[in-house]
Amino acid sequence: MISERMKAFTANSSVIRAMFEEGKKMAALYGKENVYDFSLGNPSVEPPKSVKEAIIKILNNESPNFVHGYTNNSGYEDVRKYIADSTNREFGTKFDVENIVMTCGAAGALNIIFKSILNPDDEVIVFAPFFGEYNAYVKSYDGKLVIVEADTETFQLNTEAFKSKITDKTKAVIINTPNNPSGVVYSEDTLKKLSEILVEAENKIGHPIYLISDEPYRRLVYDNIEVPFVSKYYKNTFVAYSFSKSLSLPGERIGYIIANSELDGFEEMMNALNVANRIMGFVNAPSLFQRVLPYCMDEKADIETYDKNRKLLYSMLTDLGFECIKPEGAFYMFPKTLIKDDVAFCNSAKEFRILSTPGSAFSCPGHFRLSYCVSTETIERSYDSFKALAKKYLG
Ligand SMILES: Cc1ncc(COP(=O)(O)O)c(C=O)c1O
Repeated sequence: MISERMKAFTANSSVIRAMFEEGKKMAALYGKENVYDFSLGNPSVEPPKSVKEAIIKILNNESPNFVHGYTNNSGYEDVRKYIADSTNREFGTKFDVENIVMTCGAAGALNIIFKSILNPDDEVIVFAPFFGEYNAYVKSYDGKLVIVEADTETFQLNTEAFKSKITDKTKAVIINTPNNPSGVVYSEDTLKKLSEILVEAENKIGHPIYLISDEPYRRLVYDNIEVPFVSKYYKNTFVAYSFSKSLSLPGERIGYIIANSELDGFEEMMNALNVANRIMGFVNAPSLFQRVLPYCMDEKADIETYDKNRKLLYSMLTDLGFECIKPEGAFYMFPKTLIKDDVAFCNSAKEFRILSTPGSAFSCPGHFRLSYCVSTETIERSYDSFKALAKKYLG
């Protein structure tokens, strides 16, 4: 008999699995090329060539035990030093080896942070729309996720609504910029406002509130927009970074946490993250991919293809009458649904062989998410289906 907690997790994940199975069924029925699957966030462009070259070089030149051995819990020191130096060059910061913990992607990073900071019933505030897995991550450590409703005009952080959600039990706040699913990058103004509210709240409630910035899409941005470095605005910040999207390596599970030296209880915290990394079952970040990073981490996957897809899909949808914020980063678009019920709308889109994700999955109903990490041809071919969908509701 499985646990009550696990029953709730499996119920949620069966919805996603059902969609995946349905996509496969539709592909068998209509042909893969006639099904427009915008439901998954799996990178469609290849990793930079330097990734493969680095793997080959390392395997040819280094001893197998050096490459494949257990790593220190926080990760190899030379790799962490490389990341610290690279971050300092980019953002004018002063990080060093001790500020960094290598992780199994952003998901691994978030889980070891929550394991390290949460007591039962601690509250973690999140801004809608947000990546639905946060629910499971927080619940796994007996925390409670508290949701701030979305500002659907701008999709920036709804800081006014945020103030009313802070309580004595608030332990952390999680933000995600560039955002999945809206594609919005939080502005410097927004982050400054957030930081002011957090400092005031900490003083009032008398304990630290940790800001966790989940940033797997930091390097996937368009039109040269700058993603402000969140750590600069608030001392109690963890940044969770991942190479899943920027280097198209989601299956390799590699990322890191970078924490400010000024963070409350810094040494104890870094020790907790180090131990959590070992005892979570996945046992630290993968060795080979830590070794690979210094050869390629400053590069990124082919952003031009995503940009082409972004422009094409955006102009297609807005021409057809959909309302949508133009994404500034990541590879998602989050238009308004043409009827109020976003789940019914996504089901209706399936009649036209369009697979998408309802906004409710991101706690933001009335919208739907389209992942444009697909081939450009898929977007081109989907035009008639979107046109028919728009005609059904807009006439
Ligand atoms: C917002 C967000 N956070 C975290 C993750 C997990 O990424 P990773 O593969 O680095 O664990 C994803 C994956 O899609 C995501 O979209």
